[in-house]
Amino acid sequence: MAIFLLLLLSLFVLFSPVLTDLTDAQVAVVKQRLAEGSQRRYSPCFYLGNVFNLVLCYSWELGTRAQALLELDSPRYSVTTPGAKLPPSNTNPPSSLTDVFTIARNVVSGRSPAGNTPQPFIEDGSAGDPPSVGVAVMLANWTNQQSSDGQNYAQAIRNQFNYLYTVPRTSDGAISHRPDQLQLWSDFIYMVPPFLAYYGIMTKNRSTVAESYNQIRLYRKYLRDQGTDNLWKHMAFGDSQDTYHWSTGNGWAAAGMLRVLGTIKNSDYAGDLKNEQNDLIDWVLEIQDGMYKYLRSTSCFGNYADDDHSFDDAASATLLAATVYRLSTLAGNHKHIPLAERTRIALTARSNLGGGPSNGTFVSMVHFDADGWLSPVVNPWLFGESGSKSPEAQAFVLMMQAGYQDWAQAGYSGANAGVRSAVPLSLLASFAVGVALMLALFQ
Ligand SMILES: *[C@@H]1O[C@H](CO)[C@@H](O)[C@H](O)[C@H]1NC(C)=O
Ligand SMILES: *[C@@H]1O[C@H](CO)[C@@H](O)[C@H](O)[C@H]1NC(C)=O
Ligand SMILES: *[C@@H]1O[C@H](CO)[C@@H](O)[C@H](O)[C@H]1NC(C)=O
Repeated sequence: MAIFLLLLLSLFVLFSPVLTDLTDAQVAVVKQRLAEGSQRRYSPCFYLGNVFNLVLCYSWELGTRAQALLELDSPRYSVTTPGAKLPPSNTNPPSSLTDVFTIARNVVSGRSPAGNTPQPFIEDGSAGDPPSVGVAVMLANWTNQQSSDGQNYAQAIRNQFNYLYTVPRTSDGAISHRPDQLQLWSDFIYMVPPFLAYYGIMTKNRSTVAESYNQIRLYRKYLRDQGTDNLWKHMAFGDSQDTYHWSTGNGWAAAGMLRVLGTIKNSDYAGDLKNEQNDLIDWVLEIQDGMYKYLRSTSCFGNYADDDHSFDDAASATLLAATVYRLSTLAGNHKHIPLAERTRIALTARSNLGGGPSNGTFVSMVHFDADGWLSPVVNPWLFGESGSKSPEAQAFVLMMQAGYQDWAQAGYSGANAGVRSAVPLSLLASFAVGVALMLALFQ
């Protein structure tokens, strides 16, 4: 009997790495850091003897936070949830949507009045980033938050939509990520097409839904680097370009495509836009295929995936893993699940060998500091440099966690590819341990 228990125990110990997961307390702290990191920041600005408060607010951080919160806390309202019918219910929104509504309200109330003039949600010097807040604002409008807070959400959404038609475009129609000049960024795919697709659903306009796909098709045409495993370049056209294969940018592109896929799939246009959905699945897989060739033994990507000399970045590895779980649950493709699991386990593991913070909720966590910030990460405001305290990386952690949970609940599809090779080894090892213990006991 004792031997049997020992055998069970050794089995458990050997398999326990597979069971590692962020605790609820850790998720709560990650969420808190994200909330703090993605706030409007005010910085004093001196001009003609007066002091102004310059609002520094990076719209994409708010939009990304909103999407992460939807996936984690309100999956019925997230386009990444299979079967979450669109548009969602517009009555009795759950209290889990409170933070998302707060983001929407702060954004819409923070605009300068513009009537019906085209206007981005937030003036942050980018054309492509502000629409990222769109789904949060559309949810607020759809569930009639204006009846209690008096904000004109519908007008803000229309103005933002119209603003996209005022910025430069390529001759075939790809909308610029920058308002001042034509420049395409891979980040755009996460910020604009999901907004267009959702706007099309809300306004029952098939051609707007189709346009979300069309923007992705055009961006892929310009950014995909066919010479190098189909990885996407970070940028094309314009001045001070980054033409290398920024890992986070590849993650943004894949994750944005999955949101558009989920939006179409959960809508009444699902039957109509079949080829578009199939293309999106192929293109997500194309990025995953390209990226996972370069996953390092550290379970991070280089900041530029195919550059051996670039620093380790856990943010992009986290985002890519999130896309793998979503491709599995949304499209039934489990190809890269073993590598996503390897990444997730490595990034959320506690070390028995020292390393990591020695106090608090994140004790011994190798990839989180004591305050719950993921590391190492690229500086999200200077994409070529390593940084710390990245709000978007915190959002990626929540997305990976939410994606993992949904995938686990759906039955761990595709995990057997990894487990299949792990099981005989672990079994063998526990058997050896058992035999050794038996010999020791009965000697
Ligand atoms: C705003 O909500 C109303 C329903 O209250 C809906 O008919 C309309 O399409 C929504 N507008 C946008 C732009 O989402
Ligand atoms: C649908 O959206 C397109 C732009 O995406 C616009 O040109 C067209 O007028 C819209 N149709 C309706 C009926 O509003
Ligand atoms: C743990 O220690 C670090 C650094 O000394 C500190 O910043 C952090 O607040 C502490 N965390 C807790 C939960 O005590």
